[in-house]
Amino acid sequence: MPDKVDMEKIVSLCKRRGFVFQSSEIYGGLGSCWDYGPMGVELKRNVKDAWWKAIVQERDDVVGIDTSIMMHPKVWKASGHVDSFTDPLVECKSCHLRWRASEINNQLCPKCGGELTEPRMFNLMFKTFMGPVEEEASTVYLRPETAQGMFVNFENVITTSRKKLPLGIAQIGKSFRNEITPGNFIFKTREFEQMELEYFVKPGTDEYWFDYWVKERFDWYIRLGIRKEKLRLRQHSKDELAHYAKDCYDIEYLFPIGWSELEGIANRGDYDLTQHAKHSGRDLSYYDGESNERFLPYIIEPSAGVDRSVLALLIDAYHEEVVEGETRVVLRLHPSLASMKVAVLPLSRNEKLTPLAKEIYKQLCPSFMTCYDDSQSIGRRYRRQDEVGTPFCVTIDFQSLEDNQVTIRERDSLAQIRVPVEELEKTLEAKLQGESFEASPLWATRQK
Ligand code: GAP
Repeated sequence: MPDKVDMEKIVSLCKRRGFVFQSSEIYGGLGSCWDYGPMGVELKRNVKDAWWKAIVQERDDVVGIDTSIMMHPKVWKASGHVDSFTDPLVECKSCHLRWRASEINNQLCPKCGGELTEPRMFNLMFKTFMGPVEEEASTVYLRPETAQGMFVNFENVITTSRKKLPLGIAQIGKSFRNEITPGNFIFKTREFEQMELEYFVKPGTDEYWFDYWVKERFDWYIRLGIRKEKLRLRQHSKDELAHYAKDCYDIEYLFPIGWSELEGIANRGDYDLTQHAKHSGRDLSYYDGESNERFLPYIIEPSAGVDRSVLALLIDAYHEEVVEGETRVVLRLHPSLASMKVAVLPLSRNEKLTPLAKEIYKQLCPSFMTCYDDSQSIGRRYRRQDEVGTPFCVTIDFQSLEDNQVTIRERDSLAQIRVPVEELEKTLEAKLQGESFEASPLWATRQK
């Protein structure tokens, strides 16, 4: 298979197999908005669950939160979002950096020399009105990041969780940005989902925790099966750093559009709590019993995009290979991410096979996302499951009626084993946890 997967193949697979559809497609679509279909919604949920498990469930120094999308307008004044984006801006069509129009001498991007968009008075935030009167005083914004929900709740969380620093607050949720140049499918959209962790630490320990989280987050993508050679870390140069950041690394993935940001990890210093203390009039300092000191914690922020992770995982998992003279498309997703874990496939729609196949399907449903398919030839059904990345197909044939055994076929190696029906669930569970098949599945070897 060629090393480079083009985006059109991914977009076409996503539409064909029910991962992602264009929003409001029957009305001609809405620019840069996308809907997740039956397969996509499962994959996306699995990505979020994997993040939540690694960040919240398996740690005793992080708690979760779910804050509202609309917040007090002063939040965005304090954060800098109201003021930072009200100048006329131009954006580079190639590297997407934005520049104040007044800072541009010639008509080209100072960083990469790319062509620039026309200047616009631009605020990235979507505005709406709260209550029945559409006036300036009732303006609220749709949040452009989930992070501010964690900053303004720092005091609530620290007092109610009875935890000490270092302490992280994590959130997964929708964010909205009126991007000037959205595009590249679900890579850059105006409505998207973020997975953000705000990790509050004692000043002086921030550099240690910054390095820790850069490594931790990089390794998370590898544990999910993304090839290491397709990932890299890129440190922001001083003039590229956001106004709040002391230091920042991007985890980049080699997308078909080139190396691009998957996640950013920033050392935000005490910028956020200082700003919110100032604008709210509340003392947001933390009392450290051990050193008998009061200080404003520094914040380390790993901030990832759900949609961008889904895109990278799809691209990385996409393989075309020739099997018995025919090209098969296979999504080699890590089993924990695959939308469907098991497909139950009676060899044919024969009335003798259907009852046992249906019974097995019903047995498996409570334990795994399972689908049932009895239309078309068994070969075509295997291909369909390969295309959506289902790790295991269970086939019921006429022999099954005699010996009460079924065949499990593994997606990557195409190896098959026969197991008694009463051991099927246990066997699938073990295989999904990584127990090797006859031939070692590729995702297991990739983890090493
Ligand atoms: N709180 C920090 C923050 O929001 P960011 O680099 O602007 O930082 C973090 O965003 C992540 O959110 C990005 O790495 C990306 O994965 C995702 N993201 C940002 N803007 C996006 C957009 N327009 N469409 C899709 N994902 C986006």
